[in-house]
Amino acid sequence: MGLNRLALVCSAVLLLTFSVVSHAGVTSNYTRVAEPSEEMPLETFPPPAGYNAPEQVHITQGDHNGRAMIISWVTLVNDDGSNVIRYWPANTDGSTKESAEASTSSYRYFDYTSGFLHHATIKGLEYETKYFYELGSGRSTRQFNFMTPPKVGPDVPYTFGVIGDLGQTFASNQTLYNYMSANPKGQAVLFVGDLSYADDHPNHDQRKWDSYGRFVEPSAAYQPWIWAAGNHELDFAPSLGENQAFKPFQKRYQTPYRASKSTSSLWYSIKRASTYIIVLSSYSAFDKYTPQNSWLESELKKVNREETPWLFVLVHSPWYNSNGYHYMEGESMRVTFEPWLVQNKVDIVFAGHVHAYERSERVSNIKYNITDGLSSPVKDPSAPIYITIGDGGNIEGIANDYTYPQPSYSAYREASFGHAILDIKNRTHALYTWHRNQDDEPVVADSLWVKNRYFLPEEETDSVDTRI
Ligand SMILES: [Fe+2]
Repeated sequence: MGLNRLALVCSAVLLLTFSVVSHAGVTSNYTRVAEPSEEMPLETFPPPAGYNAPEQVHITQGDHNGRAMIISWVTLVNDDGSNVIRYWPANTDGSTKESAEASTSSYRYFDYTSGFLHHATIKGLEYETKYFYELGSGRSTRQFNFMTPPKVGPDVPYTFGVIGDLGQTFASNQTLYNYMSANPKGQAVLFVGDLSYADDHPNHDQRKWDSYGRFVEPSAAYQPWIWAAGNHELDFAPSLGENQAFKPFQKRYQTPYRASKSTSSLWYSIKRASTYIIVLSSYSAFDKYTPQNSWLESELKKVNREETPWLFVLVHSPWYNSNGYHYMEGESMRVTFEPWLVQNKVDIVFAGHVHAYERSERVSNIKYNITDGLSSPVKDPSAPIYITIGDGGNIEGIANDYTYPQPSYSAYREASFGHAILDIKNRTHALYTWHRNQDDEPVVADSLWVKNRYFLPEEETDSVDTRI
């Protein structure tokens, strides 16, 4: 082969390669500033001042429709009244306050004894109303507030933050700060698991659960965080004599699981504004005949898209992940549940676990059986978008070990810390944006106009112009 001919062949190969790649997803070439995930010391978050002051205050939705709230807090002593919450609508002068009593418990873990963990569910709240609430007594009284969601309905706008794998490092702090300064402001957080990372410390240092509670309080006391459980919630440590999985997490963080007829706080559903949110547990049994499997099968039949057009699933371990970290760990759950999610036209599945960011195309891989050997994801307009957002900034650092070439199902991926905003406009459109920590919050690193699968099942177009 002459030199000219060889050059021609090489050019053709290059051209072909370029055309294939140009149709593939994007691996961001954004160069992160090297940023170790250094843990914030315990002293960064001291308990609030005052005798037996309530601390680690957090709230979550308390029923299926958004007219109840679970208020949780911790006190060091179980005095008379330390389990009482008083609350009133902000449009009254507060002279008439409702009150409710919390259930109170504590737990032991290895050589640690927790404070008194209080959980009160306040019910019968008005929709779209600001409430003040008050915990503690005397000079230790602390006051907070929250906004109830609008009445459930098909065109109700609502804005969620999406955060995962947060931990409590200086990077975590940046994530939370950026989320709290977002515009539009998130009204509730979809949290995809891995909270405190206490288990990364000697003997699962349970004081890190306390410091985590103080760390997130500036947001979590004022708006509901919808919790999914990750592997760092297991705290399963037989070598320490700790054999009860999820004990600290379930003692500290409640969910309204009974309202959706679930038998475990680890999987449940809520309706909020125009959304139906299903939370799954990657680390609980999910095969056929198990409680979670039976629950999800009947749960999906209850979703009425005419009432709640948007259907989201939260789960910790991702089903589509092209990062070397945790590669295929979510595969068995994907094989079990993916056909149902496609059949029910779920809009987005949010996952964490991998400490980076990735967004998929709408693909499914449900044709596979052991006989026909078909096993490649294919474009599927009924399939969800899979978003991996385990990039909250925890102590374990960034996951930057992507597989190459980038699989065709992967639309965008970047090894940076950050958070996302899901801004639902109406029954057909939601603006989804992802924000890396290194930029100011208004900078959008990835974005998509998400089209509702039930009312507008058209293909979305990437908003590539916003990327660096
Ligand atoms: Fe995880």
